Amino acid sequence: MAKTKKAQRLDELAALIRRCTLCPLWESRTRAVPGDGRYAAKVMIVGEAPGREEDESGKPFVGATGRFLDHVLEGTGLDRADFFITNTVKCRPPKNRTPRKPEVDTCTSNYLFEQMELVNPRLVMLLGAVAAKKILGVKSINEARGRVIERDGRKFLVGYHPAVRFYREDLGEKVREDFALLKREIRKLKK
Ligand code: URA
Repeated sequence: MAKTKKAQRLDELAALIRRCTLCPLWESRTRAVPGDGRYAAKVMIVGEAPGREEDESGKPFVGATGRFLDHVLEGTGLDRADFFITNTVKCRPPKNRTPRKPEVDTCTSNYLFEQMELVNPRLVMLLGAVAAKKILGVKSINEARGRVIERDGRKFLVGYHPAVRFYREDLGEKVREDFALLKREIRKLKK
């Protein structure tokens, strides 16, 4: 089947991201990670930034955090193949530091916002404070977690970043709760 114009533009954006030099993160990356999944997904997941294994493979959420994400999705009965998954910034920050504001601003204004328009999801799950602050302007995860926020004709959910589980085991349960809410909201879309 021929690719739609939107799918073609998503591919073009991915190619631009792979050779992007608009912020300093390109200097230390192995591969940029544009994101992947369904071109016209109803649900988009936005994390923070690629980690080591993502940087090596060019794919989002394939390292330890990604494996935990897969485990949570499996437990919730959700299939990652139904989503479009990407990150706020597309290149790994050195030593996995938090991406800096100019990096986040450059990457979102050149890539993420257009990806979101093209995929045009009905629901966007923002994982972690970096994505939630940039996209919804909230001050903290807790301010936004556990409820649906409507913006520009889309629904947004904010959840803990799955990586929290590696430094606060008790928060692993909160991550499961966040995805249980995602599942409930997906069910509502189907009605
Ligand atoms: N953490 C993220 O935020 N994104 C990834 O792709 C992997 C780990």
